[in-house]
Amino acid sequence: MTDTTGTREGSTGDALGGNPLWGDDWPRVRALWSLDETVLHLNHGSFGGVPAAVREEQDRLRAEAENNPDAWFRRLPARIAAARTELAGVCGAPVEAFSLVLNASAGTTSALASLPLREGSHLLLTDHAYGAAAMAAARFARARGASVRRLEVPLDAPAEQVLRLLEEAVDERTGAVLMDQVSSATARTFPVAGAAAVCRERGVPLLVDGAHAPGMLDGPADCGADFWVGNLHKWACAPRGTAGFAVSGEHRGRVRGPIASWGEEEPYPAAFDQQGTWDATGWLTAPLSAALLGGLGWERVRAHNAALAEYGQAVVCEALGTAPAGRRSGSVDAAGAAAARNGRHVRGRPGPAVRACGAGGLRDGGHHVERARVPARQRPGVQPAGRVRGARPRPAGGAVLSSRRGDGAGPDRREDGAGPRGRAPG
Ligand SMILES: Cc1ncc(COP(=O)(O)O)c(C=O)c1O
Repeated sequence: MTDTTGTREGSTGDALGGNPLWGDDWPRVRALWSLDETVLHLNHGSFGGVPAAVREEQDRLRAEAENNPDAWFRRLPARIAAARTELAGVCGAPVEAFSLVLNASAGTTSALASLPLREGSHLLLTDHAYGAAAMAAARFARARGASVRRLEVPLDAPAEQVLRLLEEAVDERTGAVLMDQVSSATARTFPVAGAAAVCRERGVPLLVDGAHAPGMLDGPADCGADFWVGNLHKWACAPRGTAGFAVSGEHRGRVRGPIASWGEEEPYPAAFDQQGTWDATGWLTAPLSAALLGGLGWERVRAHNAALAEYGQAVVCEALGTAPAGRRSGSVDAAGAAAARNGRHVRGRPGPAVRACGAGGLRDGGHHVERARVPARQRPGVQPAGRVRGARPRPAGGAVLSSRRGDGAGPDRREDGAGPRGRAPG
């Protein structure tokens, strides 16, 4: 196997060396992050990784805040407005459409709260939806006398099939659709621009959960959705607690920040700049993270991550005597090809080794074999296409190796991470 490990400059780390998947300047690039040299942090899709220079700038700003809190908080809204203007460009949203929220969950909450759901209507989610997003949908559906419906989408369904299933599932009782841009537990992309066209034609609002998209996809907010949310603290390496939220023109008058505060009577997006008192240094330094990655070259970073995911897939397949799977999910469309490269599927029908260890074993095994923190998830077997059903846990089948899932180490976390009880972040 190729040695893809890397180290910071000057490291005495034993087996840590260069990274041929990146290139000769790897030591310099590795040194931009202060990651523990004995660990390969591959769980970027859950928790990101903040470059050292960004953390230093955050510390500098925190010192400024502590030196003169009054002056700091008076200037803060203007500084936030400047940061969100820059970050709108990173996410591919018009400035007037784009606000900042603390995380994808906050954006989802705002979007769902602003939907005029009728009693008896339903929110339509695919069975790939993130567990926490499904819970949020259930909260707002319950409060309005509506319900949540699940559209089953086969893991490797091409874009056309996904759109056909959506067209068949949306009916006069559909109050809104929630669709992932890049799903978490199942590591696939969805044709959200096509879904936006389908929904628009039927007058049904679409909320795109792009939690994993910033940094991984080019201009992800530019997808035609009514609402889009994406975490900048994953692949765009911003400090945690930084997410973009884009709202189309017709919803801006009604949408409110997830925290009711001084921004309440401001127009969107300025309304979202004032959500009580908190440490906003992450928002202010997020553009620095984007600039740093942009300086390395977004395409180079993406190509590297794809090659690394492929390498990891080969390692796991070889170790378990199984084969890659889900390749079609990577060839759905251009965006799909790019994104699916960051998450890989390993074929089910496993031998005794896979059956014995399951996804948790793969995850922990990764730690021992490669010193890597690798998120791994089991996924259900192939479902009959297009069935819509109430939210229910699904049976576990094969394994999904995804660089977009949490490590799920908590005792209350479900291994598949999907469905309403999936609590693992990522
Ligand atoms: C697809 C998806 N949606 C939403 C979220 C929620 O993100 P956050 O915990 O930052 O709110 C995640 C978290 O990783 C996710 O993977």
